[in-house]
Amino acid sequence: MKQKIIIAIDGHASCGKSTLARQLASKLGYIYVDSGAMYRAVTLYFLENGIDYRNKGQMLSALKNINISFQHNEKNEMPETLLNGKIVEKEIRSMKISAEVSPVSAIKEVREFLVAQQQQMGIHKGLTMDGRDIGTVVFPHAELKIFLTSNETIRAERRFIELHKKGIDATLEEVIHNLESRDYEDSHRVASPLFKAGDAIELDNTYLSEEQQLEFALNLVNEKISELEKIISE
Ligand code: DC
Repeated sequence: MKQKIIIAIDGHASCGKSTLARQLASKLGYIYVDSGAMYRAVTLYFLENGIDYRNKGQMLSALKNINISFQHNEKNEMPETLLNGKIVEKEIRSMKISAEVSPVSAIKEVREFLVAQQQQMGIHKGLTMDGRDIGTVVFPHAELKIFLTSNETIRAERRFIELHKKGIDATLEEVIHNLESRDYEDSHRVASPLFKAGDAIELDNTYLSEEQQLEFALNLVNEKISELEKIISE
């Protein structure tokens, strides 16, 4: 049996991380985890339940009532996020959640709560996870780390098209503004800011198709697995 590894994919908002992580998992028969969906689900819980997340006591007791899970949607072949057993895939992608998720994900205790669950998911390896701190904090020893980058205008256009496909209302200006502010906040927060891990491979996908991006990453995976298998057989 082939050696299983952990693939950590980080980068700014909307640069295609989830697409790459999902496609890689499907090719390799790995589990795929969208860590951003977990921060979005916590944000949704806080908003729906009127939790003042700046109030530490209130925020901590709210965390105890949050259960996040994933399932595979057979119809569209996509993963979907569940919050306390209810599918919230569309709700967590709304502009309202996008506007609130950065301050929520900057809270140290929220990160500790989710990072522990993310690390548990990788215990048997054979996993791709995308986010902001996957190669730096969640899996600092991941066998393969990819840091994705992409031109800002292209990212905003991609996100705009994706939201409209999902039936979510937003203007291009709103999308651009949200990406800019989230990128700034996610990179400048004190708790686990977004940065490229020293041993991550940078991939700029501005001029790559999804197929080219996947092929590039699959080559990296195969190289890494061959390397590991060679070490084990020696
Ligand atoms: O991947 P995304 O754009 O759906 O993530 C939503 C927000 O969640 C993002 O702006 C920052 C936060 N996030 C994080 O802080 N750490 C992660 N590993 C993933 C997401």
